[in-house]
Amino acid sequence: MSNFIWKEFMLRKILSKTDYKRILGPTAEALVREVNLADKTCLITGASGSIGLEITRCLSLRNCNVIMACRNVYKAKVLAKRNCEITERLTFYQINLTSLTSVKNCAEEILTKEKKIDIVILNAATFGLPWAITEDRLETIFQVNFLSQYYLLLCLGKILASDVRVIFTSSESHRNINWPSSPSFESVSLPKEKYTSIKAYNISKLCGLLLMHYLSNQWANSKKSVFCAHPGSFIKTGLCCNWWAYEALYTFMIPFCKSIKQGASTIVYCATSPELKGETAVYLNNCKRCDESDIAKDLRMSFKVHDLIINILRERTENFDEFIKDFSHVKSNVKNNNYCTSCIYQY
Ligand SMILES: NC(=O)c1ccc[n+]([C@@H]2O[C@H](COP(=O)([O-])OP(=O)(O)OC[C@H]3O[C@@H](n4cnc5c(N)ncnc54)[C@H](OP(=O)(O)O)[C@@H]3O)[C@@H](O)[C@H]2O)c1
Repeated sequence: MSNFIWKEFMLRKILSKTDYKRILGPTAEALVREVNLADKTCLITGASGSIGLEITRCLSLRNCNVIMACRNVYKAKVLAKRNCEITERLTFYQINLTSLTSVKNCAEEILTKEKKIDIVILNAATFGLPWAITEDRLETIFQVNFLSQYYLLLCLGKILASDVRVIFTSSESHRNINWPSSPSFESVSLPKEKYTSIKAYNISKLCGLLLMHYLSNQWANSKKSVFCAHPGSFIKTGLCCNWWAYEALYTFMIPFCKSIKQGASTIVYCATSPELKGETAVYLNNCKRCDESDIAKDLRMSFKVHDLIINILRERTENFDEFIKDFSHVKSNVKNNNYCTSCIYQY
């Protein structure tokens, strides 16, 4: 084991002397050097992890207030103190994404303490787990990576700025999924017999892209925007640590892949770039527009998946419609089930 750690240490030392910037893109810090975020507040999930923590560091460096929604607040505080040069603008909220009750409690606390959120980064994720069901009777990866974070966004509708930017941390792996034309509960929350963690992960990322298109359609007459960002592939982070084989693969890939500092760049670009002003529903990779899979940009499918998601949430949470009333379109259109696939562009 110590031999393994030593080799990884040496590998990182060699790589740090190599100029990979040109090939693998800029760091997030370099991207925001000219940006001032003094009056902005960003909410980020999974801020105690590798890419999330780096995003937090870069935004707080540019005077942004960062609301860190983390599973383990103690860990987040220790890591933030160790990594972030400026910690006065960081606030910490506890959230466990395997529990919709925890999400609601976190949202209620944020609603009482915060006035406005300008940027939302839905970044938390897990991967490589054996099949497991949460207390809400949902497959864990789907709930953590997508559903709970979407619920958090819905709950915070009241304090989202009129020009809020919402960013789903996405993945190129969203392409690798056979998606049915009529998705059901089991299409998103996989039963044990259909489960692999890669499949569940890809589904969660596809849902993020689909809901990006749904939201951008809903927000068409506003200044609100929504993006999906792929940070890079095989970035060695906590994501690969649930199974030794993934950890070995990601370690092997280090020389060919982005560092965590580079992995944070596309997300930070989506959150801050003036070039994206007035844009919405864009999927980005390497800080550039990228074409998502055909199914991911299918607007009709985005409405179907949205309905499915809302019904799953409504069945599992108390006072759902009351609590998310600031996302009024959800209440009026889905509850009454009055959208019609031939006129979805209009409503
Ligand atoms: N690494 C890659 O190659 C890669 C590639 C494509 C996309 N991405 C995406 O990039 C994003 C960041 O991932 P990462 O690579 O930085 O992974 P990471 O180091 O594992 O970070 C994941 C974060 O999510 C949090 N999280 C996990 N389960 C949670 C739960 N139940 N409740 C609350 N928070 C929870 C973790 O909290 P703890 O600190 O408490 O564990 C951690 O802060 C993810 O959306 C991932 O899908 C990564």
